Amino acid sequence: MRRITLTQFLVGRQQSNLINADLRLLLETIARACKAISTRVNKGALAEGLGGSATSNVHGEVQKKLDVLSNEILLEANAWGGNLAAFASEEAEKPIPITEPYKRGEYLLLIDPLDGSSNIDVNISVGTIFSVLRCPKTTDGKYCEPEEPAFLQPGNRQVAAGFAVYGPTTVFILTVGDGVHGFTLDRETYTFVLTHPEIRIPADTQEFAINASNARRWEPPVKRYIDECLAGADGPRGKDFNMRWVASMVADVFRVLSRGGIFMYPRDSKQKEGRLRLMYEANPMAFIVEQAGGAATDGRGRILDIQPKGLHQKVAVILGSRHEVERVSSYHQ
Ligand code: AHG
Ligand code: MN
Ligand code: MN
Repeated sequence: MRRITLTQFLVGRQQSNLINADLRLLLETIARACKAISTRVNKGALAEGLGGSATSNVHGEVQKKLDVLSNEILLEANAWGGNLAAFASEEAEKPIPITEPYKRGEYLLLIDPLDGSSNIDVNISVGTIFSVLRCPKTTDGKYCEPEEPAFLQPGNRQVAAGFAVYGPTTVFILTVGDGVHGFTLDRETYTFVLTHPEIRIPADTQEFAINASNARRWEPPVKRYIDECLAGADGPRGKDFNMRWVASMVADVFRVLSRGGIFMYPRDSKQKEGRLRLMYEANPMAFIVEQAGGAATDGRGRILDIQPKGLHQKVAVILGSRHEVERVSSYHQ
């Protein structure tokens, strides 16, 4: 079977006017940076300073050296292409505008450079998540200053989103709003090859993913849903469920894309806003999951319709197989 590369895929999307040349270059550049991160992650303990806490980030979370390095790889790769106005990252408090000598372009890039970084030291999959927005224009047609307010757009305005998983294989998942497509890194040719075209999430599932150590703090609708899953064939659902929790959202969402499932990081009495970040974790994943026929909610409404108030805002996340997500939403009504 003849397979196409990510480059060929993107050229095809440009020729069908789904993306312009600047967005194509941006997506190529992100993918190239992900290859570099993949190589670095793959070296594991052979590279200097595998895990080790170097510093802490804007949220007071311990940054692993690979968090910092992945952030640098993505920023450096994207700084000079002329297609970005600014980036925002989990690892930086404020957006970073493109400055001289580089040209500014029309896009805003938001990244979680390394997702699941608590898994680095234990040889479990980690990844990179990204979201692309357009820089808004002022009434006289000029681009706004690419500062925080320019980024505060609901997820339904994303023009592209994707993620990479650095696992047994490195995969790159992408949507530009016409479905979801997955690519596998061929380490011999060092190219991403289209291996998972037109990904669809089954509407029903018997698999859930949640960090059950928070169970005593969950809100009643989530507690009810999980209790019913756990009751299995003996309970109101009348069927058994299986549970998975990787603690890398990228790996959990890739599994949901591969065979269905529901993934939840709900709000609880300790993490009142939830744990995951709206702008560079929940929004890109919600866009991808919806494009694959699934659903994504914070329990009260569609994640993609939330008007963000801050770059690093947290949100409750319930996503995956449509019928299960709808059920959890109905328990919240
Ligand atoms: P990050 O490594 O970027 O901070 O994100 C980790 C996130 C997400 O990937 C995962 O689903 C969740 O945090 C894991 O949380 P627990 O440690 O509570 O399991
Ligand atoms: Mn993350
Ligand atoms: Mn991260």
